[in-house]
Amino acid sequence: MTTTPQTYIPRHIGIVMDGNGRWAKARHRPRSFGHNAGRKAVREVVEGCLRQGVEALTLFAFSSENWKRPEEEVGALLDLFVRALDKEVDELDQNGVRLRFIGDLDAFDKPLQQRMLAAMKRTAGNVKLQMNIAVNYGGRWDVVQAARKLATAVARGDMQVDAIDEAEFDRWTSLGELPPLDLFIRTGGDRRVSNFLLWQLAYAELYFTDTLWPDFNQISLQHAINDFARRERRFGRTGDQVAQA
Ligand code: IPE
Ligand code: IPE
Ligand code: MG
Repeated sequence: MTTTPQTYIPRHIGIVMDGNGRWAKARHRPRSFGHNAGRKAVREVVEGCLRQGVEALTLFAFSSENWKRPEEEVGALLDLFVRALDKEVDELDQNGVRLRFIGDLDAFDKPLQQRMLAAMKRTAGNVKLQMNIAVNYGGRWDVVQAARKLATAVARGDMQVDAIDEAEFDRWTSLGELPPLDLFIRTGGDRRVSNFLLWQLAYAELYFTDTLWPDFNQISLQHAINDFARRERRFGRTGDQVAQA
């Protein structure tokens, strides 16, 4: 498999891992079968990111809206997180992956919260790949929680209102410490953001594929990265200006 020259590698990739249910339905299996099959795709993407030197990977695993699904499916998903956590953390740790869970974690039961915290703590020193799993996450929630923390700091007298600018605000969002989001990928054919990283999407390149998440692999990731490498990112400038720079 080829690799892309380092300069064109996105530093931070975010993925809406969609299509598990349809993948399972096509096989006359329950939706949870599709979610389970999606684990392999996660491993593939992590491996691909490690190979290519992508610095950060943020995966949308469970949105704040996904609680609306049938209780049975929500239960199966949470169960899958627990099992995946127990099984995969060792290998992620050995591969130098730092794991973070982003989202409103308070909604999960205490044992699951503790498992997530333990995994974050255990991998905290790893620097090869910053991997973020968004669970009970919503882009609007992220903006609101950042605003709340800032308001609290101001109310306590720890911060001046004038000190709040875009860079400062960014620091208080869930991905504040990480490189800016370069590439947004959504599998499963739908072309929407579904309340994923709203603030961070401002200048990300968008890539949509019909591939269903369980079928996504390192070659699919390579296609997305190659597509990204061909884009001209102008950030408001003209094409001529970019060519000169
Ligand atoms: C994405 O797959 C996984 C989660 C939202 C947890 P879906 O379950 O949304 O699959 P489709 O979109 O119904 O095929
Ligand atoms: C987005 O997928 C959330 C995750 C992949 C975790 P959904 O399948 O929930 O999105 P909608 O409801 O089709 O917009
Ligand atoms: Mg879906």
